[in-house]
Amino acid sequence: MKRRHFLTLAAAGATSSLAASTPWTSVIAAPSMQQITAGKTRLNIAGTGQPDTDLWLYNQSCPGPMLRYRKGEMLRAEVRNNLDVATTIHWHGIRNLNEMDGVANLTQAPIEPGETFAYEFPLNDSGTYWYHAHNMGWEQVARGLYGPLIIDDDQDPEVDHDLCLMIDDWRLDNDGQIDQASLGGLHDWSHGGRLGNWLTVNGKSAPEFRVKDTARIRLRLISAANARIMTIQLTEAPATLIALDGAFCQPEQVTKITLAPAQRADVILDMDRGSIELAEISTGEPYPAATLVVDPALGHSNLAKTPVNPPKPAPLPSLNKLRRIPIHMQGGAMGNLQKAMFEGAELSLRELAQKHKKLWAFNGQIGDYSTLFAEIDQNDLVSLDVYNDTAWRHAMHLHGHHFWVMSDDPTLALPAGQRDTWLMQPQERISLVFRADNPGLWLFHCHMLEHAASGMGAVLSID
Ligand code: C2O
Ligand code: CU
Repeated sequence: MKRRHFLTLAAAGATSSLAASTPWTSVIAAPSMQQITAGKTRLNIAGTGQPDTDLWLYNQSCPGPMLRYRKGEMLRAEVRNNLDVATTIHWHGIRNLNEMDGVANLTQAPIEPGETFAYEFPLNDSGTYWYHAHNMGWEQVARGLYGPLIIDDDQDPEVDHDLCLMIDDWRLDNDGQIDQASLGGLHDWSHGGRLGNWLTVNGKSAPEFRVKDTARIRLRLISAANARIMTIQLTEAPATLIALDGAFCQPEQVTKITLAPAQRADVILDMDRGSIELAEISTGEPYPAATLVVDPALGHSNLAKTPVNPPKPAPLPSLNKLRRIPIHMQGGAMGNLQKAMFEGAELSLRELAQKHKKLWAFNGQIGDYSTLFAEIDQNDLVSLDVYNDTAWRHAMHLHGHHFWVMSDDPTLALPAGQRDTWLMQPQERISLVFRADNPGLWLFHCHMLEHAASGMGAVLSID
């Protein structure tokens, strides 16, 4: 099923799916113990007139329940595994306690079928985050195991509507089912990852969100895609980017936003017309994502449309005494990796690919959880000096910390604030600078989940 094939379907679905005026009905009130159950569910995500899709979901909803807290509160969640396979939950972007980070076989034992695990940790940062499975993530996230996590801040700008749009890129077969044949396919793993052919926002095709006339809206965009780098076009609407990966950034006028897998962007958008279409344009052909529609029944906005002035991003500390960790990224199709270390032996790329499905390496080492890539003293200021010596783009994510992005290349547009996931272009060199103030074993990996599974990751030990 080609992506294009769905285009007309999606457009038709847009006019008939007027129900989605609020993104979630299942917003869970704050600090009580949440019950989250991972299980199999049939749900319609493939659009009107299409069969239900067999999915793996949290609390039978796609996305999983929205978890919403205030900064400083504790998140408590009891996760029950009703799947046939082991799972865990990772709280993406949270500067978490290491034992609550949810990395199966690194920070915890996987939650076996029928078992439960209680997560409990403080939320010290506000913003837009998400949670997702972190055991065989390339399959479990592709089947629907993810949900939004929003942490409110006293300094959040005032808006009429706060809308979270969790965007996913599914690969469905002709029966509207998860395309299982392509799960684990070596071709995708050695190229750009498993790209989909069907886009949903909050589990629906091109949903419509009803808003007040002249409303000021905060859009929280989250990419739950396995591999697709999406670009969301906001038409000509006056939009101000205020946060990236949860953290407030230097405000900036934008008309489109590129989101690599796992990245988030928050924009403030003022409705200056009857409707605003959001489209995903990464293929060059606009694909309908969502529509914001003024509903006169909701009344008129009373907010003054003054320029938004979010809190300043955390400034970069002085860089004397920097611990530099060079990371030479190699591998994949059309790459220059000949051989690499895997489980203590040096193997050729052919053998790595065919016998072990390993394709990517850092400094000649295939990523695995039994090898420490670097040992870092707590509170050191660290620079991961990454060189993407591959033919592919990669969405590099660091667990447990937020980093500043620095480069010697003056042509590269860098964020002023901190991020947790950075999209690297082929042959790009970048420094990801962070204070190693969170002890434990932390992953640094590509969030194209197929790349991570085939070796593009490393364990950093901080103590
Ligand atoms: Cu959202 Cu290890 O990742
Ligand atoms: Cu990658």
